[in-house]
Amino acid sequence: MSEDIPDPATGLTPKEKNVVRDTWAIVKKDIKGAGYELFVRFFTENPSYQSLFPVLKDIPISEIRGNKKILAHATNVLYTLTALVDNLDEPDCLTEMLKKLGGNHAKRGVNLSMFDNLGKTIIGLLKDSLGPEIMNDFAISAWNKTYAVIESVVKVGLDEASKTSA
Ligand code: HEM
Repeated sequence: MSEDIPDPATGLTPKEKNVVRDTWAIVKKDIKGAGYELFVRFFTENPSYQSLFPVLKDIPISEIRGNKKILAHATNVLYTLTALVDNLDEPDCLTEMLKKLGGNHAKRGVNLSMFDNLGKTIIGLLKDSLGPEIMNDFAISAWNKTYAVIESVVKVGLDEASKTSA
């Protein structure tokens, strides 16, 4: 069925892209709540990363929820993730966005393993907030594949930025 034929640019099938879009649409309904949750989880799982963020570094993890600066930052990050999900069918645009994301982040001392860990946090958040019926094996696999695509292009941006700054 055409629903199962992978897009040659990303390797994702229409069915996989749809499940990613549908699950993200649920998270997006409460973008602020999800933003706080994402950052609390990310720093709980990776405490050393908090020092990379000028607005977050001196804030105890217990005070992250409710902090206006973090809310603004988290909203920004979640809107960017939404833009990535919205462009799964636009590989040229997606590629440029991801290279830029990698380039921007290289300047901040962010590396590929940090992106990898963020992917684990995002997928963990989806599983816990949507539950096993919605985040079933197919949805988990579709997210893993999608995040692998994101990471592979972010890597290009990170590598290019490190070459130009060397
Ligand atoms: C798909 C993954 C990610 C997305 C969509 C994302 C998105 C963003 C956005 C929208 C911004 C602010 C605007 C900008 O300058 O571009 C930002 C800043 C930042 N991001 Fe990310 N990011 C991601 C991954 C990461 C990872 C893995 C780390 C590392 C721990 C990280 C660390 C930072 C830092 C340190 C800043 C600067 C914060 C500041 O100056 O206040 N990001 N990110």
